[in-house]
Amino acid sequence: MEVAVSSVRSMTAADIPAVAVLEARAFAEPWSPETFAEELTLPNRRYVVAEADEKVVGYGGVMCVDEEAHIMTIAVDPSATRRRIGTRLMVALVEAALGEGARHLTLEVRVSNDAALGLYRKLGFASVGLRPGYYRDEDALVMWVVNADEGPFRRRLERIGEEMG
Ligand SMILES: CC(C)(COP(=O)(O)OP(=O)(O)OC[C@H]1O[C@@H](n2cnc3c(N)ncnc32)[C@H](O)[C@@H]1OP(=O)(O)O)[C@@H](O)C(=O)NCCC(=O)NCCS
Repeated sequence: MEVAVSSVRSMTAADIPAVAVLEARAFAEPWSPETFAEELTLPNRRYVVAEADEKVVGYGGVMCVDEEAHIMTIAVDPSATRRRIGTRLMVALVEAALGEGARHLTLEVRVSNDAALGLYRKLGFASVGLRPGYYRDEDALVMWVVNADEGPFRRRLERIGEEMG
């Protein structure tokens, strides 16, 4: 399937039903629609969706606290993966966080989640530790980008943006 992403834009309450469907496909313990609704009302959050043919095909969110930005979630429609939609979403979240004054980026990821690990490593995240039992059935790797506001990371982000056209 050819997926042309027409836009990455801010998530609104109207997107939640479509986001909840993708969430249930992507995660064993999905967030409820109510959780997304609450997240959208909280300060320091930015949630985005990727659209293709006016359909939501991916989403993600970030929380900024002081100089740290925490990637809260990201998922892509299983029928639309490996088409750089996850990369576009991450670039949008990171740019939003840097715009809010974040200097460092962090996230947790299941140790077995090769797709997400590949995405995060491509962006420049490095594993700094293990959080045993973070998930009900699995450990989490904790990943960081430090000094994301400085030249080397910004240039990496620009290069990735250019590659996507
Ligand atoms: C992780 C996820 C968001 C990636 O989305 P995506 O749109 O397929 O990602 P992209 O096409 O932008 O891929 C970016 C990079 O990630 C890596 N990657 C993506 N899928 C991969 C896979 N199945 N196996 C190995 N590496 C993979 C590659 O390095 C890829 O770079 P490339 O395109 O230059 O090869 C998607 O697989 C997903 O929704 N998974 C389920 C939800 C989830 O696990 N979210 C993360 C929670 S921490």
